[in-house]
Amino acid sequence: MQMAATESDGVALAYDRWAPIYDLVFGPVFHRGRRAAIEAAERVGGRILEVGVGTGLSLPGYSSRNLVLGVDISAPMLWKARNRVVEQGLRHVGGLAVMDAEQLAFADGSFDVVVAQYVVTAVPSPERALDEFLRVLRPGGTMVITTRIGAEGGLRAVIERRLMPVTSRLGWRTEFPWARYANWAAGAEGVQLVQRLSLPPLGHFSLIQFEKRQAHAALLAEH
Ligand SMILES: C[S@@+](CC[C@H](N)C(=O)[O-])C[C@H]1O[C@@H](n2cnc3c(N)ncnc32)[C@H](O)[C@@H]1O
Repeated sequence: MQMAATESDGVALAYDRWAPIYDLVFGPVFHRGRRAAIEAAERVGGRILEVGVGTGLSLPGYSSRNLVLGVDISAPMLWKARNRVVEQGLRHVGGLAVMDAEQLAFADGSFDVVVAQYVVTAVPSPERALDEFLRVLRPGGTMVITTRIGAEGGLRAVIERRLMPVTSRLGWRTEFPWARYANWAAGAEGVQLVQRLSLPPLGHFSLIQFEKRQAHAALLAEH
């Protein structure tokens, strides 16, 4: 039986195509953001899940005291990541798997840190992915996201909206206001914004860190 292609299949296909040249095009441009995300993740450390790990550009940056698992929807991107792990002997990387950010195959509270770099604006339902990140985090754990933040208004917002049909085919959204994150955090129980840091290029990107409050576990147990 032939399955209908989903929106996630389209995103996966876009990144399957990017895989051979991804590091060349997106390696240097997001380098500072990746460094900042790793630093934030290392401040908590432990079991780290990197969602949308791609070709694994960030994997060598984690220290060996962590156990890092990486997941991505595109198998060709992960093949590159796997080669990197083998070639560089990255023993802190405990596994890489094809997985959808919107349906993580991990039990609740499995990780100390969830990292998602330049991924949230690519997934069809970003809020569902954020819910999943929160679910697999332990109470007190932290979520580190690097992401494009679209303009709230003005000419840039108009341009970003017009670019959407093109960039969606390439694998991401240009229109993505901060309100998407703020509204999600306001509606999700037990989430606290720890920091929001402007990132290059052009300050159009941000590092956002949320903490899953300790009390979240108690609240869940009550229901
Ligand atoms: C812009 S790339 C970022 C890759 C890497 N994090 C980096 O910093 O270079 C976005 C990545 O997210 C992955 N991705 C997109 N949608 C996804 C989903 N629903 N679940 C898991 N990964 C997804 C893509 O395959 C791609 O590898």
